[in-house]
Amino acid sequence: MNAGDFEPNSGSSAQVVVVGSLHLDILVRASARPRKGETLPGQSWGYKSGGKGGNQAAAAAQFGASVSMVSRVGNDDFGVRLLEHLKSAAVDTQHVSVDVETGSGMSVAIVDAEGDYGAVIVSGANLHLSKAEVDKAERLIARARVLVLQNEVLEVTNLAAAILAKDHGVRVILNAAPARPLGSDLAANVDLLIVNAVEAEMMCGVAVTSLSAATRAAAILSDQFPAVIVTAGGLGLALAVRNEPPYTEAAHPVSMLDTHGAGDAFVGALCARWANGKLLTEAARFANAAAALFVSTPVKQKRAITSDHVMQLLSERS
Ligand code: RIB
Repeated sequence: MNAGDFEPNSGSSAQVVVVGSLHLDILVRASARPRKGETLPGQSWGYKSGGKGGNQAAAAAQFGASVSMVSRVGNDDFGVRLLEHLKSAAVDTQHVSVDVETGSGMSVAIVDAEGDYGAVIVSGANLHLSKAEVDKAERLIARARVLVLQNEVLEVTNLAAAILAKDHGVRVILNAAPARPLGSDLAANVDLLIVNAVEAEMMCGVAVTSLSAATRAAAILSDQFPAVIVTAGGLGLALAVRNEPPYTEAAHPVSMLDTHGAGDAFVGALCARWANGKLLTEAARFANAAAALFVSTPVKQKRAITSDHVMQLLSERS
């Protein structure tokens, strides 16, 4: 695969379709994450619309793509909030269905003083997003430049979407998060795999403790996928495109406030740039900077981060 073979977009912004999860997140700030059996006082809590799918859709729209979401929420207050959030983020929700039997997905995350977090998700309606709903979105997917998938809906749903996309010549990105075993049918229909250090280790056995280890992991995984990005948090990222030299980007040195959703900001920013005709290396470089801004910006201000801010950070490096 040529990693940058989209024609640059001259007219309207590129179409990105995200098939994936929506969760209403409850974010709790505490000095530390509790150990087993421990109860700790926290400082504050709040709602945040999330789910890896929802976060990636909102980030892709934030960085210039025209985005549609295929997902499922419950017939409840959380579902209303999730839909309102997507609409306010300029994400098309025509293919977000409402499940009258199962509640919306949700998560609880505890963010510690270092900005790291631990979370639990309850998938709810996300696990009822079916192949039938993906099929209903065929015309939408056929018009897209990039389809984005994660591991928070059933694999059979991801597979249906990936096959549809490939049938229509649409690029497929799989952000294989959270880590779970991946079927060979789905793998065969993915153009770009994006994984973090934990997911990379689970998929190829390499402990990603340095950028060179990330490069090794990406190279191994590129036997299976035409292109692979391994994000290694505070270290940076490695990109392997089959038959091309490896590419790495060091992380930007920023002060970390919280990492919650930063991986999703990376994926959303990358797919917006890639769909808009940038080379994959350029898109990865942009996304690396966007993720740096996300981890160093307070939750309520993250939505105000623009492509100009990202370009500014990039220009400070070069
Ligand atoms: O990546 C962060 C996201 O993962 C959260 O929004 C949470 O809902 C989980 O899906």
